[in-house]
Amino acid sequence: MKYDTGMFTLLSNEQIADGIFDMRVKNKKIAELAKCGQFAHIYVPSKTLRRPISVCDSVNGVLRLVYQVKGEGTRLMSLMKPGDTVDILAPLGNGFNIHKGKRYCLIGGGIGVPPMLFTAKQTENPLVITGFRSKDLVILQNDFKNAGAELVLTTDDGSAGVHGFVTDVLKNRINDFDEVCACGPAPMLKSIAQVCRENGKPCQISLEERMGCGIGACLVCAVKIRKNGEEIMQHVCKDGPVFNAEEVVF
Ligand SMILES: Cc1cc2nc3c(=O)[nH]c(=O)nc-3n(C[C@H](O)[C@H](O)[C@H](O)COP(=O)(O)OP(=O)(O)OC[C@H]3O[C@@H](n4cnc5c(N)ncnc54)[C@H](O)[C@@H]3O)c2cc1C
Ligand code: FES
Repeated sequence: MKYDTGMFTLLSNEQIADGIFDMRVKNKKIAELAKCGQFAHIYVPSKTLRRPISVCDSVNGVLRLVYQVKGEGTRLMSLMKPGDTVDILAPLGNGFNIHKGKRYCLIGGGIGVPPMLFTAKQTENPLVITGFRSKDLVILQNDFKNAGAELVLTTDDGSAGVHGFVTDVLKNRINDFDEVCACGPAPMLKSIAQVCRENGKPCQISLEERMGCGIGACLVCAVKIRKNGEEIMQHVCKDGPVFNAEEVVF
């Protein structure tokens, strides 16, 4: 696995929606190494464990990370200012497997939407379905449009876009693409995996687990995977976070 670590300069860290921040860090090497679906492990001063955040984008040596304030670590991240230095270990994990000539349906739910932007930029004419609880949490819509994606927005409460879940759109558009890549809450991923299975569509999903080391050394992030009819434990940080949906034991 190729990754870099060190102290890097924070270029910006702006709030883009309720409790959601858009952080840009200058780091040519990490930005060049990063593939869609991989993540960065961020050290937050005074916290022992790093915080995993997906690569949202990587342009001209600048790494973009979009994160939601959940607890103390991400709250401290939101207080960082341009010019501060950030300790980053990245890019980590195995990202999405993208094949030329296929049309992808990329699905993001809530704070699972950011990694789908980098993925959209690495696929041709993708259909992107983004789902949020309500309009206050909607992010990155212009970025997806600028990336040339066909974009569908859904909200659970109907306050913006289509009223409903990403899976409602997925079912209606099932004949319009070859493969699905998705990131978001586990119940959403489980429903997407089921729709894909019923319709014979390949599906890759990005899983989220609590992490320690981020590089396969501590076992904190173990998940159950089914391979050749046998259930085995794998690491989300090293073997994932992206897995073949058919192999995940939900
Ligand atoms: C591969 C991967 C990619 C991720 N990408 C993003 C992203 O792009 N944007 C984003 O907002 N969030 C993302 N997350 C979730 C993010 O890592 C957690 O929200 C964050 O670590 C919470 O830290 P905290 O200190 O604010 O919360 P606390 O609850 O105080 O954290 C306590 C501990 O639990 C860990 N933890 C808590 N929640 C999670 C979680 N959901 N997943 C993993 N570890 C957790 C923390 O890292 C910390 O070690 C990702 C998680 C994983 C595993
Ligand atoms: S976080 Fe340590 S093995 Fe995955």
